[in-house]
Amino acid sequence: GLMGSGALIFPLGFADAAFAQFSPQIDRFKLPFKRLPELKPLRSDATTDYYEIAMQKAKVEILPELHTDIWSYNGIIPGPTIRQQRDRLSVVRFINNLDIDTSIHLHGMASLPQYDGYASDLIPPGYYKDYHYPNNRASTLWYHDHAVHHTSRNVYMGLAGMYIVEDDVERDLPLPKGEYEVSLILQDKKFTKDGTLIFDDHREKGIYGDVSLVNGVPWPRMEVANRKYRFRVLNGGGSRTYQLSLSTGDDLIVIGSDAGLLSAPVRTKTLRIGMAERYGFIIDFSKYPVGTKVILKNNILLSNLDTDDRTTEIMCFEVTRQETDDSSIPDKLRLVQPIPISSAVKTRTFRFDRGGGQWYINGKTWEPKRVDADPGLNDVEIWNFVNPGGGWIHPVHVHLVDLQMLDRNGMPPLSYERGWKDVFVVGENQTVRVIAQYGPHKGKYMMHCHNIVHEDHDMMTQFEVGKGGDSPLSAPAKPLPA
Ligand code: C2O
Ligand code: CU
Repeated sequence: GLMGSGALIFPLGFADAAFAQFSPQIDRFKLPFKRLPELKPLRSDATTDYYEIAMQKAKVEILPELHTDIWSYNGIIPGPTIRQQRDRLSVVRFINNLDIDTSIHLHGMASLPQYDGYASDLIPPGYYKDYHYPNNRASTLWYHDHAVHHTSRNVYMGLAGMYIVEDDVERDLPLPKGEYEVSLILQDKKFTKDGTLIFDDHREKGIYGDVSLVNGVPWPRMEVANRKYRFRVLNGGGSRTYQLSLSTGDDLIVIGSDAGLLSAPVRTKTLRIGMAERYGFIIDFSKYPVGTKVILKNNILLSNLDTDDRTTEIMCFEVTRQETDDSSIPDKLRLVQPIPISSAVKTRTFRFDRGGGQWYINGKTWEPKRVDADPGLNDVEIWNFVNPGGGWIHPVHVHLVDLQMLDRNGMPPLSYERGWKDVFVVGENQTVRVIAQYGPHKGKYMMHCHNIVHEDHDMMTQFEVGKGGDSPLSAPAKPLPA
């Protein structure tokens, strides 16, 4: 009863039967950890670096000795990392060599003039588009597909990569750098016995895998020195919320949230990371003797379909050598100046709900002709995100702006949520209150649940900042020369 579609299996209509099928067994902590390769610009001038990324099919080895067909950026999963300096501009030419329509979203930064991965701003097969990014804030971002109604499939198939913006303030801090600064993209996927990816969204409810991947490698083992490392972690999966901890019971020392450094480091035993959230943290391996294995664990958060216990462990760090450590964790990182509540000129409420087999925001599904909020340019507003329950966590993502969380059900945010953010975990029976200044660009931007299956069907809306902004479709894709 499986419907094949090229190399990808879509068991639609037979979802539950297909879920009973498990991926091939893989030994944990045997495969070597993989660092994400960084993309070099094709050329640079005084202000700008020019990059090129091709979307293409590729065959890669994810499970040992099996080949998996993916849809990739530049042939690799995850895609190449772009590392950029604050206030230098990037122009990234995305070339669509796939046979599906794609859309590119740099998650967490406004692109200029506006076409910010708007879901119907598509690049057809055989076309390309240049995306302009201002890089106006040091932060950990990611780029991923955003094609309307197909984001979950396209991201699951491989269309996601990291994008890091650095600045001098951050570079001057004594934090671990260079080879001691490591990105971790967490994803979960499911495979047939021969290595083919199974895309099963459980009748538009959520997609879960039973193979836990870090940077595209199942349960990797990373060799580390007995010193501090800085990690940038991204939940790049479809529907799984992680709750990370260390097998030693030691602290993760959180230094950054989605959109930049926290004011001060925060120690925590567990770090919850919803879909599309990013956190920066330090692990200090200095107290572990050579030979110690430290497992990065995931405590399962119950949700309707998240029932697999194979994803309770993520990766293993093995201390294999001694080294001196010249890094340290300063008491102050970068001040996150709270946006005063008194500056808000309006409060709006968005209810993330399900009914009649549909996902809604305020009872409505995605409609590109409709605008559901219209903050004035540079206005400060307070938005309430309400999840009335029903078994789901909704990680709510607002495009274009950096926001701050005020509270969750009237209680203060978690210690590590008190920074600049663009995704907010809204659990069952929770109301999360956020504040932001809407600007600096006029125009239409999206907001949606980042359980990307919910986003696709159709827990997505848009707001318009100011009046008379550019159309989100203002820069059409161009055909590739024949
Ligand atoms: Cu990361 Cu609108 O998405
Ligand atoms: Cu959702």
